[in-house]
Parts: sequence; structure tokens; C-alpha cells
Amino acid sequence: MDRRTVITGTGRYLPPRVVTNQELEKRMDTSDEWIRQRSGIVTRHHVEAGVGSSDLAVEAARRAIQDAGVDPSTIDFIVAATLSPDYYFPGIGVLVQAKLGLGTIGALDVRDQCSGFIYALAAADQFIRTGTYRRILLVAAEVQSTNLDFSDSGRDMAVLFGDGAGAVILEPNDSGDGRGVLSTHLFADGHFAPQLWMEKPSCADKPTFRQEFFDQGRFFPRMDGRHVFVNACERMPEAVRAGLERNGLAVEDIDALIPHQANDRISQMVAKGLKIPVERVIRNIDRYGNTTAASIPIALDEAVREGRIRRGHLVALTAFGSGYTWASAFIRW
Ligand SMILES: CC(C)(COP(=O)(O)OP(=O)(O)OC[C@H]1O[C@@H](n2cnc3c(N)ncnc32)[C@H](O)[C@@H]1OP(=O)(O)O)[C@@H](O)C(=O)NCCC(=O)NCCS
Repeated sequence: MDRRTVITGTGRYLPPRVVTNQELEKRMDTSDEWIRQRSGIVTRHHVEAGVGSSDLAVEAARRAIQDAGVDPSTIDFIVAATLSPDYYFPGIGVLVQAKLGLGTIGALDVRDQCSGFIYALAAADQFIRTGTYRRILLVAAEVQSTNLDFSDSGRDMAVLFGDGAGAVILEPNDSGDGRGVLSTHLFADGHFAPQLWMEKPSCADKPTFRQEFFDQGRFFPRMDGRHVFVNACERMPEAVRAGLERNGLAVEDIDALIPHQANDRISQMVAKGLKIPVERVIRNIDRYGNTTAASIPIALDEAVREGRIRRGHLVALTAFGSGYTWASAFIRW
């Protein structure tokens, strides 16, 4: 099949409130120096009360729609990725649809955490290439700041995560010029779910919401940071190599690599593992922290607008996160 899926517009939205490391120092036993050294993060954005992931998603989507120059009424499907939906159910896809006034088009929610954007892109790519849909809004959005443990026992996670959203518009390219998504590669290993998860609320608990779980802090996300770190450094390069092999390409062919922005040390290890010059790796975690599913589309939008990604470039995306899930995607821009 000659048809390929092209990204015709990108957008990002970060809530206005910037939270510095110094502000976090006042809330828990941490330091600006520790956070910078161990993660590369300097600031992140936090929402004000009353703002949900769907609100951030809508703003990012508006920007992507404007960038693509399309009439919103011509969008025929939504794919939305988040680990922090406004509600336990429904997901944010339907909320985005309603808030943007997109009629009754279908809305698919993807739950693959930090790999969510690439999983969602893989799904959307199939719909476009088969001709099922012709203009898809793919949006990823996260609000993490409202449910982080800002006490000393949660400081490993609380300093890393931020809120934000990124979106793209996807359309078919039948011209045969080679532009578009070349391939996507999805992996998972559910044995490691407890290494990075939000354990509660769980439908297996009867009743689900119990005071003792709140008292034990089990409604907060938790992780085994070391384990995540080591696996992220191995799995992201592996996923990129799978894509290079599939497409008969070499590392030198990659013009821009966008790794999920989990920790700047992880991004540097991924670059080292792949032997790709670090200048070709897009890194913005210093300003936004880890925005899980939204981190790749935020970085993509920024890189495109800054001219670091241009027509004809080979762009590689890779992610790793809770599940574990990991993935890569290759795009001829
Ligand atoms: C969390 C992470 C930054 C910790 O960095 P690290 O160099 O591995 O640090 P360690 O886990 O060895 O912890 C070192 C010390 O710093 C402490 N520490 C943890 N968070 C801290 C914080 N915010 N401020 C100050 N000290 C902190 C630890 O308690 C530990 O203290 P101890 O030696 O007295 O036990 C790192 O493991 C990481 O980034 N992991 C991956 C996280 C991630 O990306 N998650 C999402 C994936 S999508």
C-alpha cells in the first residue's frame, strides 16, 4: 500500500503556572541541585484547581487544528491518550469531542501511559492507511500535579512530573513522495506493572475506596525509580533499533530523535546507547518535567516550530513507561 499517514499540524499547551525547584524545596525535603543533577528538570507546569486533562487537550488540539489549517468539522475521528483522565470513566476522548463541538464522531481512548502517544499514533496510522478515516485528531494530555505525594516519601516522583498537552492532525498522503509514518513498533511486559503504577483505586477491592488506603498513601502513583531507569535506558534504544532494521536504515540516517522526556539522564543514556550525537536528540525536560503521554507531542511541536525538524527529515520517536510499555515510530517529515 503506497498510502502513508502524514502529520499536517502540531500543537501544544502548557498551563500558565510555572513551578520551580525552589518552590518544591519549600514543600518537601529536596533541593534544586538534587533535582537538576538527577533529572535535568528546572521547572514544570501545574494546573490550577478545576482544570482537567481534557481542558489542556482542547487547547493543544485547537493549536494543531489551526496549524493544519483545517476546518474542525472535517475531522472524522479522535484518538486520545492519557493516564490521568478527568474521570475514572468516561475517557477524555469524548470530552474533547464535545468541548470542540465535533458532532458525533468516534473517540478512542488509549491507556498506555508514557508510551501512549506512540501507541495512539500506531492505531491512528492503521485507520488512515486503510481509508477508514481521513482526518484524525490525536491528542495526549496529562494532569499529574493534582495527585502527587508532595510529602518526603513521594519526593522521587513529585519533582519529576508536570502537566501539559500535545496534539497532531493526521491525514493520508497518496502522492507516493515517501513522506509520512514509515512504521511503528509496540512492546509491553505486564510483569512489571507494580514497578510504576497507581495501585488504587482498584475494582478488586470491595469496597474500592477505603480510608485505610488514603492513610497509607496508596492512591498516589509510585515507582521503583532505579528499575524504571535501567529498563528505560535499555528498551528505548531496542525499540529504535527495531524500526531501523524494519526500514533498512542506520542510526546516521536519523535527523531528529524524540525520546519520551522521562529524565534527561535517561535521554542522554539513550543517545549514548544508540551512538547518536546528542545534538540530534530533542530534549526539553528542563522546562516541562515528565508530562507522560504528552511529552513526545509537546517536544515534536516545539522542534517543528523551532525549525529543528524540517520537510524530508527522518524523525524517530521512542517511549518507555508504566506497564511496562515501550515503543518507537519512524516518520519521514
Ligand atoms: C527517580 C530518580 C531521578 C532517582 O535518581 P537516582 O540517581 O536513581 O537516585 P536513587 O533512587 O539512587 O536515590 C538517591 C537518594 O536520593 C533520594 N531522593 C529521591 N528523590 C529525591 C528528591 N526529590 N530530592 C532529594 N533526594 C531524593 C533517595 O531517597 C535516595 O536517598 P538514600 O540514598 O538516602 O536512600 C531516577 O531513579 C529516575 O529518574 N528513575 C526513572 C523515573 C522515571 O522516569 N519515571 C517515569 C518513567 S516514564
